[in-house]
Amino acid sequence: MSTMKNLVIPADASRLPMTLHRMAEKRRLGEPLVMVTAYDHPSALAADRAGVDLVLVGDSGAMTVLGYDSTVPVTLDELLVLARAVRRGLSTPFMVGDLPFGSYEVSDEQAVTTAMRFVKEAGCDAVKLEGGGETSVARARAIVNAGIPVMGHVGLTPQTSTALGGYKAQGRTAAAAARVREEALALQQAGCFSIVFEAIPSAVSAAIMPEMEALIIGIGAGPSTDGQVLVFHDLLGIRDGRGARFVQRYADLLDEMVAGVGAFAADVRSRHYPAPDHDYTIPAEELAAFKAGLPGH
Ligand code: KIV
Repeated sequence: MSTMKNLVIPADASRLPMTLHRMAEKRRLGEPLVMVTAYDHPSALAADRAGVDLVLVGDSGAMTVLGYDSTVPVTLDELLVLARAVRRGLSTPFMVGDLPFGSYEVSDEQAVTTAMRFVKEAGCDAVKLEGGGETSVARARAIVNAGIPVMGHVGLTPQTSTALGGYKAQGRTAAAAARVREEALALQQAGCFSIVFEAIPSAVSAAIMPEMEALIIGIGAGPSTDGQVLVFHDLLGIRDGRGARFVQRYADLLDEMVAGVGAFAADVRSRHYPAPDHDYTIPAEELAAFKAGLPGH
């Protein structure tokens, strides 16, 4: 397994922008697609420089960067601010904007209007929506018909986790696995170019994959999918606790951030910061003239 310490990221100025066509080609060649979430300019730069294929401005940003206790409260306007910052940090990855809860369910018109905002105001290449029931499938079809590529999302869908009985794996009975399959097929039929499979048994994913023409990106869905996605803050350890079973942590940045801020605080308190190296200078005669003008001179 690669870690940050032993992996050197090659500079690749020749990397081409990721497109639907190139993603399909990667699938044909059996090359796994890599997707990460990003929510701001630095996380976008990290994803871009690491050479990932897709970046998702996930509604998980509600929790990772905005501090909500679920993805439900985040608003469209809040996510658009994050998405615009991400856009400014990306050059080649394909950028997907996540439609937040309440921004697409009401009607096809609402869904298309929201999707358009992600494309026009934040420069997204595609949008993602959750669920494979009748409503989500209709909204996906409407957005695709409006000319915007759509990524679906089945299995554990955090926006409706209360209805699913909490944040837990899906598709663990024959009936539940059949439901995941039906939802994925319906989203594919609606024209989704890609579908996220979240928290479903790897044997279930593997059994469904032969029927999938859409690009399947897994998160806790085993190795048979066309690609894998992880949440930026989970994979880099910018959080307390380990997170879900499927999370693999590649760094412990929260610890490093606390250590860095703590070292700054200690230096200020012990008067080791600022040091002479940090000083700006002023010519002696200018300083003398300034001081001569002070009261009492
Ligand atoms: O919002 C998000 O981060 C997601 C990924 C887990 C796929 O939907």
